[in-house]
Amino acid sequence: MKASYHWWQTDVVYQIYPRSFQDSNGDGIGDLPGIRQRLDYLQWLGIDAIWLSPIFPSPMADFGYDVANYVDVDPMFGTLAELDQLVSEAHQRGMRVLLDLVPNHSSDEHPWFVAARSSRDNPYRDWYIWRDPAPDGGPPNNWLSHFGGPAWSLDHTTGQYYLHLFDPKQADLNWRNPAVRQAIYDAMRFWFARGIDGFRIDVIWMLIKHPDLPDNPPDPQWKPGQPEQHRLLRRHDQHQPEVHAIIREMRMVADEYQDRVLIGEIYLPIDDLVAYYGENLDGVHLPFNFNLVTLGEWNAHAIRELVEHYERALPPGGWPNWVLGNHDQPRIASRLGQPMARLAQMLLLTLRGTPTLYYGDELGMEDVPIPAELVVDPQGIRTPGHGRDPERTPMQWDATPGAGFTTGTPWLPIAADYATRNVTRQQDDPQSMLVLTHHLLELRQASAALNRGSYATVATSEPDLFAYLRRAGGEQILVILNMGATPVTLDLSSVGPTGTIAASTGMQRTGHVTLDAIMLDAVEGLVIAIDEE
Ligand code: GLC
Repeated sequence: MKASYHWWQTDVVYQIYPRSFQDSNGDGIGDLPGIRQRLDYLQWLGIDAIWLSPIFPSPMADFGYDVANYVDVDPMFGTLAELDQLVSEAHQRGMRVLLDLVPNHSSDEHPWFVAARSSRDNPYRDWYIWRDPAPDGGPPNNWLSHFGGPAWSLDHTTGQYYLHLFDPKQADLNWRNPAVRQAIYDAMRFWFARGIDGFRIDVIWMLIKHPDLPDNPPDPQWKPGQPEQHRLLRRHDQHQPEVHAIIREMRMVADEYQDRVLIGEIYLPIDDLVAYYGENLDGVHLPFNFNLVTLGEWNAHAIRELVEHYERALPPGGWPNWVLGNHDQPRIASRLGQPMARLAQMLLLTLRGTPTLYYGDELGMEDVPIPAELVVDPQGIRTPGHGRDPERTPMQWDATPGAGFTTGTPWLPIAADYATRNVTRQQDDPQSMLVLTHHLLELRQASAALNRGSYATVATSEPDLFAYLRRAGGEQILVILNMGATPVTLDLSSVGPTGTIAASTGMQRTGHVTLDAIMLDAVEGLVIAIDEE
């Protein structure tokens, strides 16, 4: 019965990077009225929940992940009233809206930090993490910024270093200070009261650091030539036991309101990740599962092992979720190539658990090479070759100049293939990635088995094949993914005698099949509704 599930279990989340989705005023930067104009599209696609990367006032050193005011909207994106309007129109369509909470650090231009750095005895001083220089005048420990360089910057006025796990313009807040906690919880309440349905919480596993700030040990896996910031293990600056008590508090804030969701950004291996559900499921509702993104090798064996491991590791009642891409990772179509990206989309939308889609992946958008002089991402500037601009380029809506994204000069270059790879073109092509995605979303919505049914691996002797069965009530859906470079014929009659093809990655197969001789092309996936006996 659907009624016993929460919306965040049965819905599909779509991540919008607001700068790149739709510009409505010709300044080359996407905005809130732009997103509102595209709600029709999202509804057509079959999206039930949108998550907006940060839209708060910000100097944009990290494009909004450096917040200067937690309870307002940056004029670049619009006004609070325009956000309210977007939320209300989304709600009218039965869609949810999630914002991005960035509690680990604020902008150095946030009034809290401006006060904190003004003198050592300012009441806000202890809202951030300050330490005296080491005896040689250098940083207090060896921690490194994720963007490159030391994680400490010296404040010349007061003679102490402040901690920043990211850009020097992103000062880490001191979560040991109860006043900091209350301030962020109040910001959450502000948005919940305005009708926001939940938060994706930025780097939640980094919120609290080891109290003594010890040096991080070297990573034995690191090799010269790899980014310097990966030289050390992040033993003491993330994933500390105390983080769970903080998350419980955040959860209590969310629980003051009806049916809200917290999704935590957490890059950890499965066995560490599942702790973030909380001991009594009182942590985040969904600790983002990035293991398909971080998977070393993309093949049937590795993916099957991963899915089974995750299914085993989930705590009782813990709801799974899957992610293929986001604004920090190379695009899935560039990582795997177009044919395999279609297979990956079928996987994402048929596994058990809430899927999150990254804008543009439904078109197979690819990373756009950014010439050095146009790099704007702080990580790309500090660690050349490792920037995130390529996966943040404007959404490709149509073949007009500006790709339907803008009438002005886009803030990042538009992909060279936009005239052929765009929404308008793909909506008219029954075999496009977009129509495949739309179709899979429709199927998922209509099928209890796909939407919320159980998961079971189906054993096969083919090493390049990954097959599984999703079940709810009497409904059984079989998913077969051939990840190999050669066609296969296989006998899965153990599952049932016959079935009906509900989807194929090429969008060209339909009809009835007998399960004792199922044929799949190289890099092809099938979704088959098993006939009831
Ligand atoms: C998260 C965001 C990333 C940002 C970083 C610092 O990883 O996804 O874009 O740069 O946190 O806020």
